[in-house]
Amino acid sequence: MTNKNANSNLIIDGCDTVKLAKEFGTPLYVVSQQKIEERCREIYKVFLSEYKNTRALYASKSFLTMAMCKIVEKEGLGLDVVSGGELYTALKADFPTEKIIFHGNNKSYEELYMAIENEIGRIVVDNFYEFELIEQIALKLDKKVNILYRITPGVNSDTHKYITTGQKDSKFGIPLEKDIITDAVKKALSSESIGMKGFHFHVGSQLFDNTSHIEAVDIAIRLMKELKDDLGYITEELNTGGGYGIPHLKDDIRRSLKYFIKPLMDRISLKISEYNLSMPEIMIEPGRWIVGEAGTTLYTIGSIKEIPGLRTYVAIDGGMTDNPRPSLYGAKYYGDIANKMNKEKVCEVTIAGKCCESGDILMKNLEVPHIVPGDILAVYNTGAYNFSMASNYNRSLRSAVVLINNGQAEVMVERQGYEDLLRGERIPKMLSNKEI
Ligand code: LLP
Repeated sequence: MTNKNANSNLIIDGCDTVKLAKEFGTPLYVVSQQKIEERCREIYKVFLSEYKNTRALYASKSFLTMAMCKIVEKEGLGLDVVSGGELYTALKADFPTEKIIFHGNNKSYEELYMAIENEIGRIVVDNFYEFELIEQIALKLDKKVNILYRITPGVNSDTHKYITTGQKDSKFGIPLEKDIITDAVKKALSSESIGMKGFHFHVGSQLFDNTSHIEAVDIAIRLMKELKDDLGYITEELNTGGGYGIPHLKDDIRRSLKYFIKPLMDRISLKISEYNLSMPEIMIEPGRWIVGEAGTTLYTIGSIKEIPGLRTYVAIDGGMTDNPRPSLYGAKYYGDIANKMNKEKVCEVTIAGKCCESGDILMKNLEVPHIVPGDILAVYNTGAYNFSMASNYNRSLRSAVVLINNGQAEVMVERQGYEDLLRGERIPKMLSNKEI
């Protein structure tokens, strides 16, 4: 719950954000446990309990820490990981391994080994090379590996081109040419180490209309029908990916999960009965929709520069290092001056980050009250793909993450110190050679 108190400070989940900024420093990622739980419960209500034989996974690339694994586990969701690092985090948090699903277009031998050794639930196989690595490792470890094949449905989505993934010309997934996909399925069916469970697609991210999901459903279910006719193969599972969009600006519409799920599930039922197939287990794997609106980033305002007749730049103590999305995708955000919530908004400013890049602009045309250095800026809906995409560019330190709930706040990730920047660095001996 976002609110303000008598001091005109922004309150989230019973925590005074100005006090949080003082106690934990800025930039600070503030993550609301309550918001995440609300989203997980909406998934339960609208998807898991509404439709039989369904599974929901949290796409951990959007935000992952060991604490987040604990929340996801407590809420009964599975976990989608996409790298050895995400898998390692989940294992260290004792996340139930059978509920983990492993994605990626170029998983290494070592990553696959870690996944297979730990008997994770599913590996989503992206290509033939990966398939061979999995078979080798499975034989070596004497394990059976359950897989889904990621298919490229060849559909376009209405979002930034960097985050569309379902189009034919994509680095992800197996092309849907009949001989290629049939060959892939035959390989899996004839391998003793592989359990061929079904298919996966992910059409893109930050989507608000269902068109590409629906088109991909049609394509996947037609594939299921063809494989049944040609090979007698019955698809047990269909993973429809994530991609549900969230609002970022004040007047953006917030879509409920039902808005995304109902048309998807209706279409699946329709197509399954049209082709007279048996209903596979249906999976979804949202990331942003679960965690995006749970995050707020707090910054301290520093220099303020007015270019008369043009614009006012208000600089903050973070920027593209903690939120690369505006500079990478032109993403827009909305925010407030957290210590001046009751003050009238009197001007428009441009919020600039502190990196040595002109493109490091977090927000353009933000309406604010009269501000001075030391004020606290809160940027909303920064829970997804902010912390997880943060960098040390300009040798900036990564910000701390605090978890808040009902007036309580605790550190989930510590702020980096300068010593963290040098961890792992060496000055090679050859540089101390006097002749250089
Ligand atoms: N499943 C797969 C296989 C994915 O590749 C993704 C996202 C998801 C699920 C979750 O998508 P979501 O529900 O979070 O939209 N860095 C970009 C987003 C990249 C998304 C990559 N894949 C951004 O900041 O917008």
